[in-house]
Amino acid sequence: MGLQKENVIWFFGLSGSGKTTLAEALNKRLLKKGFLTRRLDGDILREKLNADLGFEEEDRKENIRRAAEVAKLFSETGIITIASFITPKEELRNLVKEIVGKDNVIDIYVECSLETCIKRDVKGLYKKALNKEILNFTGIDAVFESPKNHRFTVNTEEETVSQSVNSIVLFLEDKRLF
Ligand code: ADX
Repeated sequence: MGLQKENVIWFFGLSGSGKTTLAEALNKRLLKKGFLTRRLDGDILREKLNADLGFEEEDRKENIRRAAEVAKLFSETGIITIASFITPKEELRNLVKEIVGKDNVIDIYVECSLETCIKRDVKGLYKKALNKEILNFTGIDAVFESPKNHRFTVNTEEETVSQSVNSIVLFLEDKRLF
């Protein structure tokens, strides 16, 4: 199937920006096209594989390191991995590329203003973070660095889910991933 390269799709962005929603929608589209895929999601990995990790800087790094190592294993098998992690710092985004191989990763910034993420507050965590019931919350009292060297951006304030997914699929087709 010619899937040796560029088969890790790594969504990153603020909590509530829409990473998981987009990963699910893209996954559906790729499955329909007959591809073998695997999703890796921050919330889900943190329940088991990364259950020992919190949100201090070192723990986030370990979280991303493990996720990237797992993505690499899938990648080597020709399975398309669709990852969704906040991945808040450039250092972490670079670590993903280092582990998986720069040419194998398409990192997609899920752009959405902090203000809108706070308004959406799907999980109610921003409210808690603003009340200081949760510490080290990305965007509130933990850093989210604006990305510089990523491959693609979608904006979930301006686009619908299917518009974003369409633009990603077009980009992937252009890259001849499929
Ligand atoms: S990352 O920073 O290490 O990449 P990851 O994507 O795995 O984060 O997990 C983020 C999810 O954990 C959020 O969507 C949210 O549901 C939950 N969460 C709990 N506490 C925090 C926190 N302090 N900062 C960010 N997310 C948190």
